[in-house]
Amino acid sequence: MNALVATNRNFKLAARLLGLDSKLEKSLLIPFREIKVECTIPKDDGTLATFVGFRIQHDNARGPMKGGIRYHPEVDPDEVNALAQLMTWKTAVANIPYGGAKGGIGCNPGELSKSELERLTRVFTQKIHDLIGIHTDVPAPDMGTGPQTMAWILDEYSKFHGHSPAVVTGKPIDLGGSLGRDAATGRGVLFATEALLNEHGKSISGQKFVIQGFGNVGSWAAQLIHEKGGKVVALSDITGAIKNSNGIDIPSLLKHVKENKGIKGFHGGDSIDPKSVLVEDCDILIPAALGGVINRENANEIKAKFIIEAANHPTDPEADEVGHCDLKLHNYNKMKACNVFSLYKSADFVKERSHYTARHLCKLWRSHC
Ligand SMILES: NC(=O)c1ccc[n+]([C@@H]2O[C@H](COP(=O)([O-])OP(=O)(O)OC[C@H]3O[C@@H](n4cnc5c(N)ncnc54)[C@H](O)[C@@H]3O)[C@@H](O)[C@H]2O)c1
Repeated sequence: MNALVATNRNFKLAARLLGLDSKLEKSLLIPFREIKVECTIPKDDGTLATFVGFRIQHDNARGPMKGGIRYHPEVDPDEVNALAQLMTWKTAVANIPYGGAKGGIGCNPGELSKSELERLTRVFTQKIHDLIGIHTDVPAPDMGTGPQTMAWILDEYSKFHGHSPAVVTGKPIDLGGSLGRDAATGRGVLFATEALLNEHGKSISGQKFVIQGFGNVGSWAAQLIHEKGGKVVALSDITGAIKNSNGIDIPSLLKHVKENKGIKGFHGGDSIDPKSVLVEDCDILIPAALGGVINRENANEIKAKFIIEAANHPTDPEADEVGHCDLKLHNYNKMKACNVFSLYKSADFVKERSHYTARHLCKLWRSHC
C-alpha cells in the first residue's frame, strides 16, 4: 500500500477512536507546506547530475517542526508526506513540544562519492534554508544520512543565517551535538522492548530477536540487546542476511560491517535470503529499515510473538487485517526529538515516557482487535 494512503488510513482510524471533529481531521491530513526542489551538482567526472529533493512540513501547532532527511532511491513525495505526518503524531504522543516534518532526496548514496554527497547536501540546503530554522523546522538524520550530512547542512545554513548549530540535530559532538545521540534511536528501541517484556513478566535476556536493517538504528538496537543478554538469531541489510540459532556475535559483526560496508561475507552464521528474515522463528521481530515490509503477503507467515517497530511505518495496515491480533505492535517514540536545543534528557525521562506509551499503545491495540 502507498505510504501516504497507509498513514492516512491509520490516522482516520485514530480520529474515529478519539471522536475528532471532521474539520480538524481534514486540516490535519493536509500538510502545512510541501517543498520540492531541483538539485543539480557537478559529479567528480565533470558531468552534471540532477536530483529531486523534498521537505514536507506537516504541522507546527505544538512547536517547531522536526524530522529526518532521507537519502534513498525510493524517496518520493507521498513517502516524505507520510513520514512528516508520522513525526507530528510521534512528537504529540510522546508529549514533546515539536511538530512534524520530513525531507529526502531521491538518490542512491552508495553510488555517490563523499564529495558528491557534500555538494548535493549543500545545494539542497541552499534551496530550503529560508524555510527551515530553530524556531520553524529542525532537520535530523534518517536513512542514508548521518552526522556528516548534518554538519554540511549546519555549515551551509550558517553561511546565510550566522552560526546556527541548533538548526539540525544528530550533528557531530564537536559541532554541538548531543552525547548519546548516535545510539538514541536504538536505545529507544531497547527501552520500548524492555517495557513491553516487563508487562509480560519477561526480560531481554534469553529472548530470540530478528532484526531487519543494520544501519544506525538496527546496529545500535542489536548491540544493546546483545549486551542485555538477548539472542539476535537473524539479521539483514541491503547486502544480505544471516542466521545463527545460537545467537549472532554482534561485536564481531559490527567490526565486519565497518570493514566491508555490509553484512555480506560474515562467517558467523548461515547466509539466508534477505526476504525470509522477517518470517524467521523468533520471540521479537524488529524491522529497522524500510516502510511497508510487513504486509498482506507475509503477515500470515510471521512467527514472532511481538513486533517492535523501529523503522517508520514498517507495518502496512493491510497486515493488521490478516488476523494477527495476538501480535503487539509498539513504536519506540522519538525521544531523540528532545535534543533540538542540545538538551540532555535522562534515561529515566525516556524510560518513563517509553513505558507510558508502550502501555497505552498496547491497550489501544487490544481494544481495536
Ligand atoms: N537514524 C535515526 O535516528 C532514526 C530515527 C527514527 C527513525 N528512523 C528510522 O529507522 C529506519 C532505519 O534508519 P537508519 O537511520 O538506521 O538508516 P541507515 O541508513 O543508517 O540504515 C538503514 C539500514 O537498512 C538497510 N536496508 C536498506 N534497504 C534494505 C532492504 N531492502 N532490506 C534489508 N535492509 C535494508 C541498510 O543496508 C542499512 O543497514 C528508517 O525507517 C528510519 O526512518 C531512524
